[in-house]
Amino acid sequence: MRILVVGGGGREHALAWALKRDFPPATTLFAAPGNPGTAQLGTNLDISATAVADVVAAARQHTADVVIIGPEAPLAAGLADALRTAGIPAFGPGAAAARIEASKAFAKEVMVAAGVPTAPSRSFTDLAAALRYIAGHAEPVVVKASGLAAGKGAVVCASRADAAATARAMLADGSLGEAGREVVIEEYLSGEELSVLALTDGRQLLVLPPAQDHKRLGEGDTGPNTGGMGAYCPVAPPLGGDRLIDRVRREVFEPTLQELARRGATYSGVLYAGLMVSADGTPYVLEFNCRFGDPETQAILPGLAPGVSQHLLDIAHGAWRPGQDTLRAQRAAVTTVLAARGYPDAPEKGVAITLPADLGPDVLVFHAGTARDQAGTLRTAGGRVLSVTGLGGTVGQAARASRTAADRIAFDGKTWRRDIAWRELRRAGAA
Ligand code: AMP
Ligand code: GLY
Repeated sequence: MRILVVGGGGREHALAWALKRDFPPATTLFAAPGNPGTAQLGTNLDISATAVADVVAAARQHTADVVIIGPEAPLAAGLADALRTAGIPAFGPGAAAARIEASKAFAKEVMVAAGVPTAPSRSFTDLAAALRYIAGHAEPVVVKASGLAAGKGAVVCASRADAAATARAMLADGSLGEAGREVVIEEYLSGEELSVLALTDGRQLLVLPPAQDHKRLGEGDTGPNTGGMGAYCPVAPPLGGDRLIDRVRREVFEPTLQELARRGATYSGVLYAGLMVSADGTPYVLEFNCRFGDPETQAILPGLAPGVSQHLLDIAHGAWRPGQDTLRAQRAAVTTVLAARGYPDAPEKGVAITLPADLGPDVLVFHAGTARDQAGTLRTAGGRVLSVTGLGGTVGQAARASRTAADRIAFDGKTWRRDIAWRELRRAGAA
């Protein structure tokens, strides 16, 4: 079998790792563009993930049996549609369904129509109308760019004045380019965040074990928002328990998929619900993503029993029988992201990395912002450089494995949090 993975981050390295684990050694992997981690598992193709025509041509040239699409940008650009039109099975939603992530205004419209719990909101393209709405809004106010903004689009504003300035920057000054030409203004929700991902063909659902991301740069969840500094999986009850998962299935996934299908945008792939779970256990949707999470994937896939990849292929082939409602984690996993100095604003690149060859049996290192120079030296090449997943019987053991390994990897400016999974460990300590 020949499989092409599209993307080049930690998520795609983890997907490639799971595919290689789940299928016979004869399976051939390609990655576009991949990274030095995927290069150890297959062949990297020098093609941008968003170059739709080039990816389709590469899939043909390398006679890929299936294409697994990692990031949101190519999905929003219609890569899955283009592949299917070319007769190549693809895992990931078409552009119409990917709007659930690519347009927060559209996602809100779908959620309201489907009765999915979410913060009350209004969407605006006109600054004057947005400012009038903000003037009558309770504080804090959440202002979000509607379009794809690489994790920078949501701003929690303590005051109406901050919200007005944020809306002005997005709508009038173009601070986030096209992504901010429409904004969603919504109420602030309190609770605890949880990432729940489900594999789906638009009709059937297989919910993956829940994970928790750590979006803030600093320990104790302080500092600026990032793409994610670490994650762990599974999340213990009550937050991540069966009752909550059941509510997410019935109140979030099922109505959303039905509403998308009703609009002629049947969703197939993995649907990611970024939730704020309120004190009474209601799963409010903060955002949908049309893809696997990064770094959640690096914590979810390694803890699952081998075999998860077959679901992706069957969904891509339109011949899926999940056989169960949920997949459970066999082992706990904690993923620590090692970022470059200056992340998230201006990450330093080109710094040499010392990566020990053997970090032990319970550790997996996934590459993201790394590159090899001509001499073969591994160097930093992006904001999030590596993700280090530790596995164990408990989240505590997995956290220790992850941190010990993260400590042993060295590069100048290494920026990381030693407290990934702190909420879970505090809950476990208190229990
Ligand atoms: P989003 O990109 O919509 O997931 O937002 C990024 C982050 O902003 C979330 O992970 C939350 O921490 C925070 N956030 C977004 N929307 C809200 C909200 N309505 N209330 C409180 N926090 C929010
Ligand atoms: N970790 C958040 C995301 O993948 O969007």
